[in-house]
Amino acid sequence: MFSYSLRKRILITGGAGFLGSHLCERLLNDGHDVICLDNFFTGTRDNILHLLDNPHFEVLRHDVSQPLYTEVDEIYNLACPASPPHYQHDPVHTTKTSVLGAINMLGLAKRTGAKVFQASTSEVYGDPAIHPQPESYWGNVNPIGPRSCYDEGKRCAETLFFDYRRQHQLRIKVARIFNTYGPRMHPNDGRVVSNFIVQALRGDPITVYGDGLQTRSFCYVDDLIEVFVRLMDSPDDLTGPVNTGNPGEFTMLELAQKVIELTGSKSKLVHKPLPHDDPKQRQPDITLARERLGWEPKIKLEEGLRPTIAYFDQLLRSGQ
Ligand SMILES: NC(=O)c1ccc[n+]([C@@H]2O[C@H](COP(=O)([O-])OP(=O)(O)OC[C@H]3O[C@@H](n4cnc5c(N)ncnc54)[C@H](O)[C@@H]3O)[C@@H](O)[C@H]2O)c1
Repeated sequence: MFSYSLRKRILITGGAGFLGSHLCERLLNDGHDVICLDNFFTGTRDNILHLLDNPHFEVLRHDVSQPLYTEVDEIYNLACPASPPHYQHDPVHTTKTSVLGAINMLGLAKRTGAKVFQASTSEVYGDPAIHPQPESYWGNVNPIGPRSCYDEGKRCAETLFFDYRRQHQLRIKVARIFNTYGPRMHPNDGRVVSNFIVQALRGDPITVYGDGLQTRSFCYVDDLIEVFVRLMDSPDDLTGPVNTGNPGEFTMLELAQKVIELTGSKSKLVHKPLPHDDPKQRQPDITLARERLGWEPKIKLEEGLRPTIAYFDQLLRSGQ
């Protein structure tokens, strides 16, 4: 491809989703041309409405499980429903999105010589037998359960990325993303941060699964987008997988209490049984990202919860 400037043409699949919309914004601010590809299954135009007037921004309604022919310098492959109710809605299509989506984006990277980034997930570790999880851990995943369409789809996508690298010398970047939160998360996708905030703002009971002592680590979206860009810009030998997330651990009870405190809600906690295959603990070991990318999350839970709560508050007030 012939280029007149340092401005890159960057394709973001899943660009109208939670993470994708923040990434579109960041790369436009960095002075690039951004193509946002989305089938709008879980993403919405509202997430990118503020970008539509930008002449360097383009939106493409397309399903990543279908091939795409276009000229690009970099591809961020984020397209995939990410929360259990969404990815279990049509599990066969979830696997197609991950596997055929990866094949199509890798094919595009091969044709154009583009660098290609894969949004993988901590779910590749399954219910981990070691804690925290380094990238060298192979995981403990159920191949036939209701979460498998997502977990195994993402694992197969990683396999494809590394085979395209070995077989076709592609420049690949694989990030294993741990729980991330922030404005533009879905209000009702069953993820714990959005669940707790929406329940607290509505004054509904806050649902804690099990005894609430299971832990999660939460990364604020701005920290995550920073490491995406650093990984994409890193030397070609750094392929990943690289864990990206915040190692700070909180129990579900601690999170619920923090949300109640920051929203000033009068909601009470109610306990429900743990869902199938729900991991008890998940925490990233981010040594590799620290050492190779000089990155670590900077935004504390309380600091990130404030804008997230403000976002949901506005969303609920607007009746959505
Ligand atoms: N948010 C997190 O905590 C987290 C954690 C681990 C991994 N990830 C990964 O990051 C990526 C983005 O997640 P998110 O949280 O922004 O979720 P999201 O649901 O908000 O975004 C996914 C986007 O992909 C689009 N999409 C889904 N299937 C598609 C298809 N077949 N073709 C084209 N577009 C399609 C959706 O419409 C949506 O806009 C996903 O690949 C997810 O697996 C996210």
